[in-house]
Amino acid sequence: MSNAAAVRLEGVAREYVEGGERHRVLHALDAVFEAGRFTALVGKSGCGKSTLLNLISGIDAPTEGDVWIGDVPITRLADRERTLFRRDRIGIVFQFFNLIPTLTVLENVTLPQELAGRGRRDEAMRQLERVGLAGRASAMPDRLSGGEQQRVAIARALAHDPDLILADEPTGNLDPETGAAVLELLLEMTRAAGKTLVMATHSLDILPFADAVFQFSGGRLVQ
Ligand SMILES: Nc1ncnc2c1ncn2[C@@H]1O[C@H](COP(=O)(O)OP(=O)(O)O)[C@@H](O)[C@H]1O
Ligand SMILES: [Mg+2]
Repeated sequence: MSNAAAVRLEGVAREYVEGGERHRVLHALDAVFEAGRFTALVGKSGCGKSTLLNLISGIDAPTEGDVWIGDVPITRLADRERTLFRRDRIGIVFQFFNLIPTLTVLENVTLPQELAGRGRRDEAMRQLERVGLAGRASAMPDRLSGGEQQRVAIARALAHDPDLILADEPTGNLDPETGAAVLELLLEMTRAAGKTLVMATHSLDILPFADAVFQFSGGRLVQ
């Protein structure tokens, strides 16, 4: 078993101000997403799934409340510490893959670690092997299919052995069959390593695989 961290939300709220009007997307959420488990966040488009994932990764800050990852209150860290924490301890998989088009597949996987001053080419290659794409290491991302690009993104998210994987509708931009294969790979890779996985999805097919399911309802979370 590897490292894993629980995610704890304490009174987490997020409001946006638009045209002078306050718009409350998340209402004082309290929840624990358990370490080493797969938690699914479900709810229709616009209910706040991405907003919550961005608060957990520290890309965004809540209007109120705190997010804990393991014993670290990520919402209370200074900007630089929060960025370093995210880079070292969190892996993120996005709906639109977010690969850098001017870098090769291998360079995309090693980039996060190179930014941290410890590029691990061998580890990146090992991850590419695990997602079945070692043979495409020197290809540019636009030569790959959507499913292959998402597999590269999964390799990138896991290459630095993070405690927590966040996935925001990772199959939302793939056809159902490819999406199912990508999901299976992501689950297998996170389960095998005992990682904490929090995934936003509007696909009900995924729910039978989840250890816990939280649904958004009027800006609140119901388990
Ligand atoms: N930067 C922003 N400014 C204003 N409103 C936003 C912003 N980002 C998201 N929202 C609003 O927050 C709500 C939740 O969005 P989001 O978290 O993207 O939902 P989901 O991921 O569940 O589809 C939506 O009503 C959206 O319009
Ligand atoms: Mg979203």
